[in-house]
Amino acid sequence: MNRKIESVFKSKPTIEGAGVNLKRVFGYNEVPLLDPFLLLDDFRSRDPKDYIAGFPWHPHRGIETVTYMLEGTVEHGDSMGNKGIIGPGDVQWMTAGSGIIHQEMPKGINGHMGGFQLWVNLPSTHKMMGPRYREIKKEQIPEISPGKGINIRVISGEAGGIKGPVKDLVVDSEYLDVSMEPNMEFIHKIQKGYRVFAYVIEGNGFFEPENSNSIDREHLVIFKDGDNVQISSGDQNLRFLLISGKPIGEPVAWYGPIVMNTREELEIAFEEYRNGTFIKK
Ligand code: FE2
Repeated sequence: MNRKIESVFKSKPTIEGAGVNLKRVFGYNEVPLLDPFLLLDDFRSRDPKDYIAGFPWHPHRGIETVTYMLEGTVEHGDSMGNKGIIGPGDVQWMTAGSGIIHQEMPKGINGHMGGFQLWVNLPSTHKMMGPRYREIKKEQIPEISPGKGINIRVISGEAGGIKGPVKDLVVDSEYLDVSMEPNMEFIHKIQKGYRVFAYVIEGNGFFEPENSNSIDREHLVIFKDGDNVQISSGDQNLRFLLISGKPIGEPVAWYGPIVMNTREELEIAFEEYRNGTFIKK
């Protein structure tokens, strides 16, 4: 059975970090709608004033942050001693677990900057796991063409029989970047019971077979349960993220960059951050 559309949202302008103007696709107000996902930010911009202030040193606990760059770079450093530059087409899949403190500073290339940050929740059994950091370069991400006029970058999960480089995830998640030429159809199987959403990066398309309303750029499509998603492009190119994951189904206690199960765990986290015992490893 094809999955039907449950709801469609437009991303909203938000200010984050030290004054970064970005678009929030979903976040705190949508919990638990996207379980196991907590937040998606779209930070594409052509104006350095929007992003140059960046995200100076801040903590995370209880989640994973996944940064996928399209344009420009992000210079980062963290309390585990990792340091580097996430460039166009690269992915950083960072598991905060028991805690990291990091900074993320965007730098445009010819003023252009763009990418997405997704937050994946961790279950109570793994919220205090050792932090883990993975950097995946553009060349390591397979780009496949399951049919004429369709291209997919497979970051995690599987498409067209090819698995993405990010494996052994705590929460089983699939992360695809799908590009379609006009008048193409894409059918993709999603595990039953998993949450799936699409976020339109460019162009517009049709996200449900018997629905003639097109959905365009900067819109989020949340699907109902079922098997396949069936997506068609209209008279222009369509590019979207297609992300799915196994719901966790636990209480969410969230303040700023820290997401736990209970308010008490949040208070402990902030107290530890204040008194210098936040970092466990
Ligand atoms: Fe961060």
